[in-house]
Amino acid sequence: MPCVRASDGPVAVTGASGFVGSHVVLALMKRGYTVHGCVTDLAHPAKIDHLKAFEDRTPGHLELFRANLLEDGSYDAPFAGCSAVLHVGTAMAYGGANNSRQVYEGAVEGTQRVLASLERAGSIRRLVYTSSFAAIGHPAPPGYVFSENDWASQNRTGDPDWSLDRIDVNGETAYAMAKVETEHLVNRTALADGGFDAVSVCPLVVLGPLLSPAHHLVFSWQWFLGRMLRGKPCKRAWQALWNIVDVRDVGEAQARILESELCKNGDRYQLSATDRSGELNVNQLQEQLQTLFPRIAVGGAPPEMDEYLAKYGKVYDAPRAYCDRARRELKLETHPIEDTLRETGQSLLDLGLIEPALR
Ligand SMILES: NC(=O)c1ccc[n+]([C@@H]2O[C@H](COP(=O)([O-])OP(=O)(O)OC[C@H]3O[C@@H](n4cnc5c(N)ncnc54)[C@H](OP(=O)(O)O)[C@@H]3O)[C@@H](O)[C@H]2O)c1
Repeated sequence: MPCVRASDGPVAVTGASGFVGSHVVLALMKRGYTVHGCVTDLAHPAKIDHLKAFEDRTPGHLELFRANLLEDGSYDAPFAGCSAVLHVGTAMAYGGANNSRQVYEGAVEGTQRVLASLERAGSIRRLVYTSSFAAIGHPAPPGYVFSENDWASQNRTGDPDWSLDRIDVNGETAYAMAKVETEHLVNRTALADGGFDAVSVCPLVVLGPLLSPAHHLVFSWQWFLGRMLRGKPCKRAWQALWNIVDVRDVGEAQARILESELCKNGDRYQLSATDRSGELNVNQLQEQLQTLFPRIAVGGAPPEMDEYLAKYGKVYDAPRAYCDRARRELKLETHPIEDTLRETGQSLLDLGLIEPALR
């Protein structure tokens, strides 16, 4: 299918107001696209004001539409006349907003509705789907290096959790199963339709500048980093590595996929660390933040770490994964890890979202 350019007409973004979605909109508007930004609530300033401000700093244009993944036909109006759709939005579990069944069913049924509106529009040539590394990572020995060839459904023989019967009790599996299912769904539908290609991105730990207070989502990676700047111990993934990708790179990669002549239906791009510098254990994360924010007493490993190390000797060497394919095929130039960490912390401070623990 031919690639897309800004001159081909508007492109639509679902979940436009979210942390990732906002950076997708910004990357597109920087390239001069007219973006149909889909949000659930047009009356919520923290969800839309930062998007409207892109009009002043980019050559692009923005039209906002109210749309909801839970409603049939909701995307018919925003997709009409578009050349591409970037499907970023989904029901997330942040702060207990959705239980694991709502996360699973919201993703699958929401994507079915997006595909139905896309096919009714009849003008869309490319769908970029925001999947997740959750659709890639599977049980593997420490040190295993994941790539786009891996699927979360692998190595599950004898794993009782990898079952639709268990989605009510295991949120992580529900999310991973939803992302595997929806990736296959968008590719199957594109193949049968023949009029558009579906390409997925699979981000790992997304950090980088928050653009709105609405991006300070309880239990998100950026929220846990902010917690460390508040002097509190790291409470997420301290037993393993934070494998980090910059949210600006996630946005830029999606804009590049639209315009790539190489991309075809079924392609997927793992968006993760550039190299070992982006794979940090909790001590390395604390050290880097401490260097970047010398006046703050940055929190580090939680008290449970001593017991963990006594038992296992070291933190789990996973997930190891690099965004080589995106760098090679999309010519994506990634942000250095120091810049990503600095911009995450600085935006939390500038937006007044955290009270730092000063030394
Ligand atoms: N952040 C990460 O580390 C990470 C890693 C891998 C993959 N991802 C993927 O990236 C995407 C965005 O996640 P995020 O971290 O940026 O979270 P986020 O800020 O919470 O964004 C989620 C978006 O989904 C939209 N949404 C939720 N329920 C909806 C509904 N019923 N109808 C329409 N839209 C709905 C929200 O729209 P409103 O704000 O308008 O309600 C919001 O814009 C997700 O697909 C997620 O799986 C994120």
